Amino acid sequence: MAEVRINSVSKLFGEVKAVDNFNAVIRDGEFVSILGPSGCGKTTMLRMIAGFEKPSLGEIYIGEQLVSSAAKSLFVPPEKRNIGMVFQSYAVWPHMTVFDNVAYPLKIKGYSKNDIKSKTDKALELVHLDGYAARIPSQLSGGQQQRVALARALVSEPKLLLLDEPLSNLDAKLRESMRFEIKDLQKKLKITVIYVTHDQGEAMAMSDRIVVMNKGVIQQIGTPTDVYETPANRIIADFIGLVNFLPGEIKDGMATIPGLGLSLAAPEVPAGAATVAIRPENITIGRAGGRLSGTLVHKFYLGDAVDWRVEAGGFILRVIDKGMEHDDYRLGDTVSLDIKKYLVFPGQP
Ligand SMILES: Nc1ncnc2c1ncn2[C@@H]1O[C@H](COP(=O)(O)OP(=O)(O)OP(=O)(O)O)[C@@H](O)[C@H]1O
Ligand SMILES: [Mg+2]
Repeated sequence: MAEVRINSVSKLFGEVKAVDNFNAVIRDGEFVSILGPSGCGKTTMLRMIAGFEKPSLGEIYIGEQLVSSAAKSLFVPPEKRNIGMVFQSYAVWPHMTVFDNVAYPLKIKGYSKNDIKSKTDKALELVHLDGYAARIPSQLSGGQQQRVALARALVSEPKLLLLDEPLSNLDAKLRESMRFEIKDLQKKLKITVIYVTHDQGEAMAMSDRIVVMNKGVIQQIGTPTDVYETPANRIIADFIGLVNFLPGEIKDGMATIPGLGLSLAAPEVPAGAATVAIRPENITIGRAGGRLSGTLVHKFYLGDAVDWRVEAGGFILRVIDKGMEHDDYRLGDTVSLDIKKYLVFPGQP
C-alpha cells in the first residue's frame, strides 16, 4: 500500500514559507503531479515526503505508517521509507559503472551478491539499459543517464516513486518518449508516482491528477481536464494553457467588456470588476456571422495550426486556428469572431 496522506504540512526556511499548509491524499497506484512555477515549493514538498527535509508543521503518512509529525517530533529517515527518488539534477555517479550506480542502494542495504546481480539486471532491463551495465555515465546520452537514475530509484522495488523534474535536461523529442516510458513502467509495476514539474504539458499528459501550486500554496487539485477546463482562479487559468484576459464589468449576471461590445452570461460571479478569460482555441474566425468584428494583425504559421493576433475594440486577441481552412485570409482583413467557451473570474486582470 502506498497511499500518501499529507496533513497540513508547512515548511519554513527562516522567513521563507516554502510550503504553506499543504493538504492532499495521493491514492495507491495513482500518478499525481505537483505543478507550479519555479520557486513555488515543489521540490521542498517532495523532499519532505522522501524524508530529506523535516516539515515545520503537519504530518505525512505513507500507507499506514506515520513517517513525519512535527507535533510528535517523529521522523522516519529516508532509507526506512521504501521510496524510490529521482532528483532534479539526476545525480548519477560519474566514476561508477551503470551497474554500480544502479546496484548502490542494494549494497547499502546489505543484499547478497546474487540478489544484487539479479535485481540490478532486472532494473536495467526495465529501463531498456540491458547491455550498458559496464559503461560509465560519460559514455551515455542524456536520456540514457536519466534512465540510470530511474533504474536506481526502482531497484529496491519501492511502492512509491518520487520524481523531481526528471526530464528537464532532455531534448523535446526524448522528453516525449520518456513520458510514455515512465507511464508504462508505472502501470507495469503498479506503483504510486508523485511527479514534480513546471511543464504543464508534461503534467497534463501523464497525470491522473494535478496539484497546482503557487508561492507555497495549493491552488487546485484536479484531473488534467478539471484544471484546464475549470481552473479555480486566474493564476491557474494563466499558468495552464494559453489565455486572453479581458477586463469586464458584471451587472445583473452579465459580463460586459467595454470597448468590445460583448456581453456574456456570468450568473455566478458577484457584481463589480471581473476578468473574462478566453482560450485562443475557443475563438473561431470566419468571414461573417460571429459576435465580434476584428482585424487580422499578425499571423504565425505553426505547421499544424495558425496562431493569429486579431485587433478588436482596442484589444489584441490571440486566436489559434487548428482548422487551417483560412489560406485565403490576409493581414488587414476584417474578420468575424465567435466565442465557443469562456470563464469569468472576479476582479480586474
Ligand atoms: N535549503 C533552503 N534554504 C532556504 N531556502 C530554501 C531552501 N530550499 C528551498 N528554499 C526556498 O524555498 C522556496 C521553494 O523552493 P523549491 O526548491 O521547493 O522550489 P521549486 O518549486 O522546486 O522550484 P524549481 O521549479 O525552480 O525547482 C524557494 O523560495 C527557495 O529559494
Ligand atoms: Mg525544484
